[in-house]
Amino acid sequence: MTEILPPKPPARPDRVSFWRYLKLFRQDILSAQPARLYRAWMAEFRTPFFRSFLVNQPDLVKTLLKERPDDFPKSDRIAEGLKPLLGNSVFLTNGETWKRQRRIIDPAFEGGRLKDTYPAMRAAAEAAVARLKGRQGAVEIEEEMSHAAADVIFRTLFSIPIEHEVAGQVFSRFRDYQRSQPLLNLAAFVPLPRWMPRFFRRGTRRNAEVIRGLIAQLTCERMNAIRAGTAPDDLATKIMTTRDPETGSTFDAAEMVDQVAIFFLAGHETSASALAWALYLMALYPEWQEKVAVEAEALEDESFAAVSKLKISRDVFRETLRLYPPVPMMVRQAACPEQFRNRNVPKGAQMVLSPWHLHRHERLWENPDRFDPARWRTENGRQCQREAYIPFSAGARVCTGAGFAMVEGPLILSMILRQFRITPVAGKVPVPVAHLTVRSKYGICIRLTER
Ligand code: HEM
Repeated sequence: MTEILPPKPPARPDRVSFWRYLKLFRQDILSAQPARLYRAWMAEFRTPFFRSFLVNQPDLVKTLLKERPDDFPKSDRIAEGLKPLLGNSVFLTNGETWKRQRRIIDPAFEGGRLKDTYPAMRAAAEAAVARLKGRQGAVEIEEEMSHAAADVIFRTLFSIPIEHEVAGQVFSRFRDYQRSQPLLNLAAFVPLPRWMPRFFRRGTRRNAEVIRGLIAQLTCERMNAIRAGTAPDDLATKIMTTRDPETGSTFDAAEMVDQVAIFFLAGHETSASALAWALYLMALYPEWQEKVAVEAEALEDESFAAVSKLKISRDVFRETLRLYPPVPMMVRQAACPEQFRNRNVPKGAQMVLSPWHLHRHERLWENPDRFDPARWRTENGRQCQREAYIPFSAGARVCTGAGFAMVEGPLILSMILRQFRITPVAGKVPVPVAHLTVRSKYGICIRLTER
């Protein structure tokens, strides 16, 4: 019997013209790349406008992300597509501004705080299961997981469910924003020259303004509740009352709007993408599905302690993040000239780090395209986890929500599999494409039946 491999997008031919590349890129950055990137340690792209280098060699990835992050700041051009929505959020800033923002935000996500956040996360997971009970049969699960992950963010951040009027509006406006902004891809990853028009579609900026207005309403109400001493002890309160240990300052209302916008964007799109792929993989590999379902009985215990028992679910989620890293590529900019692998990297060159390619690198991973959650317990798996696995990035700019996501993902996965058996829908094989996160071209359809 031939082994079933999880879906992988086709690679493009090795040589194509720049314009053809841009066209492919506009459709999807994954299938726009040649297959050799799964084997290369470093690759260079020369175009009329820019030079960029994709870096796959583990020690170079370490140099960029962990050892010398200040010499490879975030490319300011990336901000262009996201600025109308995210303003000066921690995702886009560099230097001192970014450092101060992290000093204020990080304590809210530290290990101990996860325990405080857990009841809200669990309530969101229960609500997701309840919604799915009404949706048995073939279900487009990306949409459902977006809903669930957005619910997690609002419950943990502001102690309100997604049904709350303002939360619901942010969620639906955000969907429109993405639909009206298909070029976000291009603007985010290809450093187009400054004279080239940015093609923000009509309505995109307006939508961003509305979303920010709604978030401002939430933060303003919260500021008042904090002053009145009636604020709930959630992530928003924690962040808004934390003082920068170096300057003693707190976020003002406008800065908080920027941060909430990124928590919402970075925190729900990514988790939703990973969960949708994880559930599809469970449909494809029923033997793993059963193992997760059996282990999920530990969730009878509603306390945070139960999460530590979800070991198989965590391995499955980790393997999903390897095969379908929600953030498929990241871009940095060389602040000074460098020499990497005997190549001159000029100042200003764009350095592309690609979790997508690194996680499937043929010279690093054993059976890179195979779904195998057991690999994390092998020598090769452990070594690659240290050196070639960056779904949350690494180093100083590592995802703030990594610990949060590694509780949320396995929890929701287990809660769903505890309740439902999942099977594929005939003829519906998802095709991975990179939009803001790795999604499927026509959604991800699976069939749910109650256990
Ligand atoms: C499976 C879920 C998630 C994945 C795969 C993920 C992945 C990432 C990655 C790769 C980055 C670095 C991007 C870059 O450097 O260009 C990042 C940054 C970030 N993530 Fe996540 N993320 C996830 C969930 C979350 C959650 C739940 C939150 C918050 C509630 C969050 C908040 C952030 C923030 C604030 C940053 C910016 C950090 C900085 O630049 O200093 N993420 N995430």
